[in-house]
Amino acid sequence: MIDLCTDYLGLQLKSPLVVSSSPLSESVENILRLEEAGAAAVVLASIFEEQLALESKALDHDLSRGTESFAESLSYFPAYDDYLQGQDAYLNRLHRAKSRASIPIIASLNGASAGGWVRFAKEIEQAGADALELNTYSLATGFLKTSAMIEEGIVDLVYRVKQSTSIPVAVKLSPQYTSIPHLARQLDDAGADALVLFNRFYQPDFDIENLNVIPRLTLSRPEELLLRLHWVAVLYGHLRAELAVTGGVHSAEDVLKSIMAGAQVAMAASALLKHGTSHLTTMQIDLTRWMEEHEYQSIRQMRGSLSRRSVPDSSAFERGNYIRTLSSYTLRQKDALPRPG
Ligand SMILES: Cc1cc2nc3c(=O)[nH]c(=O)nc-3n(C[C@H](O)[C@H](O)[C@H](O)COP(=O)(O)O)c2cc1C
Repeated sequence: MIDLCTDYLGLQLKSPLVVSSSPLSESVENILRLEEAGAAAVVLASIFEEQLALESKALDHDLSRGTESFAESLSYFPAYDDYLQGQDAYLNRLHRAKSRASIPIIASLNGASAGGWVRFAKEIEQAGADALELNTYSLATGFLKTSAMIEEGIVDLVYRVKQSTSIPVAVKLSPQYTSIPHLARQLDDAGADALVLFNRFYQPDFDIENLNVIPRLTLSRPEELLLRLHWVAVLYGHLRAELAVTGGVHSAEDVLKSIMAGAQVAMAASALLKHGTSHLTTMQIDLTRWMEEHEYQSIRQMRGSLSRRSVPDSSAFERGNYIRTLSSYTLRQKDALPRPG
């Protein structure tokens, strides 16, 4: 009997297959469908700092404090009226999901600056969330802000959220930091219970006819997993915080790679949006079959087996690999340079 169990954020999960924050969890009915299809836990779609601050008495304070991107970002929010009722609706959905589903429900707070809104973490806890994912998505557009200032801001935010709640807190990060290991260590020290690697960077497209910049969300491709595997493999074994992969998990093989890099769980959104909820069942069947064929008894047994500290030649994760990768490329016939003459 194959044991797919894994621990994550103090929770005993039946498998490493977690549904990441997305519209997939926008209704309780869909959460139940995900559970039935094999999800071991679901991360709710986020509630945003901007939504919370709108409702909060802390708004004036936040604005005068100079959260520079805040006022600007408000103007970009769609469904502005919906956001005004955001808090109650969010807590209500969380509460209903908890009372009807038997898998853990992880709430998601999405914000980038430490303001009064972080107190919402307590309300999330009181509504019954098993854990909280804090998405720190932000873009550095200020010319006077150094990378150290930005990282300090994130660490401070995590510290404050941890102070506001006693449920476990996972921190979802973007990959664009100068030193991911250094930031990871600081977040670990600030009390992060897990790091979720990584956010995708959504670049807007240009409409050259109407001179507009338009938001564009494309679903992920499996190749995006490689960036996550690299950093999970580098961090594994060096932190108290657990590691989770999000981004490019499309198949059972991707889940296996994530676990072997050192993750506790592998999260999926795009693959489920593309292929439907039943894709979770396929992934679980394929996962079990692969483990049987390769004589693995448990997920725990394979965790970290391809991490930087476990592989015999760790240069695969270092500069040496860069040189090897470049020189490993051989020109195919059709790419070959034309012969002179
Ligand atoms: C339509 C859509 C909505 C999303 N909404 C959120 C969100 O509210 N909060 C969040 O943290 N991530 C959100 N994400 C990001 C996903 O949780 C996930 O991290 C990302 O899509 C990478 O995983 P994937 O390759 O499995 O899609 C969203 C993704 C999609 C496709």
